[in-house]
Amino acid sequence: MTDEPDFYPLLLSAHSNSQFPDYINADIKEKISNPSFITELFFILQEDPYLRILVDKNNSLASDYIPLDLVELKNASYRINRQGLLLRDAAQEGLEKMAASARLEGLTLLASSAYRSYDYQDQVYRRHVNNLGRQAADRVSARPGHSQHQLGLALDFGCITNAFAATNEGRWLAANASRFGWSLSYPEGYEEITGYSWECWHYRYVGTELAQFIDTYFAGIQQYALRFIHEWEKL
Ligand code: DAL
Ligand code: ZN
Repeated sequence: MTDEPDFYPLLLSAHSNSQFPDYINADIKEKISNPSFITELFFILQEDPYLRILVDKNNSLASDYIPLDLVELKNASYRINRQGLLLRDAAQEGLEKMAASARLEGLTLLASSAYRSYDYQDQVYRRHVNNLGRQAADRVSARPGHSQHQLGLALDFGCITNAFAATNEGRWLAANASRFGWSLSYPEGYEEITGYSWECWHYRYVGTELAQFIDTYFAGIQQYALRFIHEWEKL
């Protein structure tokens, strides 16, 4: 006999409510039945909730949500493309550590877009709609309240085009970012899942534990993991 609660039925409910696509559903189900999964999940649930909050086409932030610990990015181990870029403190620290490691390999990461207020995202989105029309704009730009940039935890690197993927910096990030707590938000081939076309330059700081969790149990797909956690927290 054991007094330990059995979380497995709840895990199965969160899994089923997450409505993963068929091709990965059984895979994720098997992975989350690993006993270490629940331990890691509970660890993540004790961290800052904004590291894991789902902000996507269906889930938004309040228009007046502004992170309290925004800090200005300085040219440090990374470079900035203009003054006044802001990130939350932990994300800035995670960026600095990651950039210092990239530096050792002769690479300099360029920070190109960071925190965006609700109102600024509104301007960005409207500009896209004016240029592309609403349908095309919705594939590349979040509506106000729906952008990870409002969290102060998302960062666009380099040239902000998919040409970045073939650069040394883009390749290095793809291979190493998660070790430093950064997760690619909109991978190639996942538009149906994430709601956005491929953005090889857009990473979200989720912390090292959650980044590892995404890689270990959710095939490296941030949206799957955050959706699962979202469903778990709704139970
Ligand atoms: N480009 C991403 C989806 C954003 O606007 O937040
Ligand atoms: Zn972005």
